[in-house]
Formats: sequence, C-alpha cells, structure tokens
Amino acid sequence: MKTKLIAGNWKMNGSLAANQALVRGVMDGLSGLQVRAAVCPPAVYLSQLQSLLQGQTALAWGAQDVSMHEQGAYTGEMSASMLREFGVRYVIVGHSERRQYHAEQDAQVAMKAQRALQAGITPIVCVGETLAERAAGRTEEVVKRQLAAVIQANGHCISEIVVAYEPVWAIGTGQTATPEQAQEVHAVLRKQLQAATTQADRVSIVYGGSMNAANAAALLQQPDIDGGLIGGAALKGSDFLAIMAAASQCAQAS
Ligand code: 13P
Repeated sequence: MKTKLIAGNWKMNGSLAANQALVRGVMDGLSGLQVRAAVCPPAVYLSQLQSLLQGQTALAWGAQDVSMHEQGAYTGEMSASMLREFGVRYVIVGHSERRQYHAEQDAQVAMKAQRALQAGITPIVCVGETLAERAAGRTEEVVKRQLAAVIQANGHCISEIVVAYEPVWAIGTGQTATPEQAQEVHAVLRKQLQAATTQADRVSIVYGGSMNAANAAALLQQPDIDGGLIGGAALKGSDFLAIMAAASQCAQAS
C-alpha cells in the first residue's frame, strides 16, 4: 500500500493568526507519522505558509484553484507559474464548489490541470456526482466524463495527477459515503486510469466528503482509497492529525 496523501482544503477560512496556530499544531503532531500531508489555504495566505513551512518536507502546501491561462488580462486570476513562486506542491482543480458557483466546465478543469503540470505542480482533480445524479444511477457516467476530459488533455502526464472523488452530497453535510460506496467509485476511476496509462497504480485516488477522525480509518483501509481531501475536519488540528494517524496506521499495517 502506498503512503497515503492527506490534504486539508481550508476553503475560505483562516486568518494570519489562526493559520499560524493551526500549522504549528499540525507540524508538532506530524513527527513519526507515515503520511504525505498538505494544507491548501486561501491563496492570499500562500506566502505566509511558505515562510512558516519552507525548509521542511513533512507538510506541503497547495492552492485551491489556478487559472487556465498563462498570463494576461484575467482580473482576479492566478497563474500556475505564480503559484510555483510560492512553493506550492499541489493545486485543487475542479472542486464541486468551483463547478457549482463559478460554472466551471470539464474542459476548463482539464486545462487547469495541464497548466499545473506544466509548472511542476500536482493537480488534485476533483470529480463527483450530485445526489440527483446518484439517485438516477448516473454516478459512474458522471465521474468518468469528468476524468475523461482531464485524461484527454493531459495524455501520458496523467500518471502525475491526484484524483479526488468527492460526492457532492457528502461535502459539508456530515453524510459520508460508506467505505463500500467510495471504494466502488474509486475502482471505476482506477480502471479508467489503467486504460489510459501503464502507470495508473502510481496515481493517488483520494476521497473527500465529510471525512473525519471517526470515519477515516474505515475509508482509508479500502484498497483503492489512497488518502483524503479534508474540508471541515482540517480546520481543527487535533481532528486533522487524527485522520493522518489513521492514514499512517494503514501504511504501517501493509
Ligand atoms: P468536508 O470535509 O467539509 O465535507 O469538505 C470536503 C471537501 O470539499 C474537500 O475538498
């Protein structure tokens, strides 16, 4: 089993003081854990995280979005090369909140992933179905369509991405997918990656959606769940660390 990736998506939360306290607490608790750890703050705080975290490799930092353009007249946007200057290792692309509130389409998400890869940043590509899509039996079709766009745009580089399965109905609702429900979709995504690259087993497929200290272990024990993308529970150091401890135990048990 590969070392799990546990990434915190802080969404639009934080402050200079709160970030510092959270990051220090996480760093203190991380030692000895076998996990790949990252936090993704709002972009204005990337510079703060770079100062707090540079010179160590235990905790990486990432962005929550990136422009599909390289540079130019795109007010409010940030390019992948700009993010790179702030030392980011990951960038989340295609989060359902971006798809829902900013009308992001599959093709744009695919281009964002491409920009990230070109800049040496690992895109965490989010896919996931709504409750209505699941109820209509369309889960597989939806997540495959979302991932297919990214595969098509990125060719053999696809082995360098991270995929996050985030069922929309599980995000921020406290209604987590069961380990079996999540594993079923992860297996579908793994198969799709296998058809696209011989290196599919290198791709981490992480789960996101109300993952917390209590349910993390059961999810992370599934064979195709390679980690988690954590929202609410990443804002509290002790909860985030408990999830990472569960991930570390999986790595040590294998
Ligand atoms: P919650 O963990 O708050 O459900 O959020 C998940 C998520 O959207 C991570 O990107």
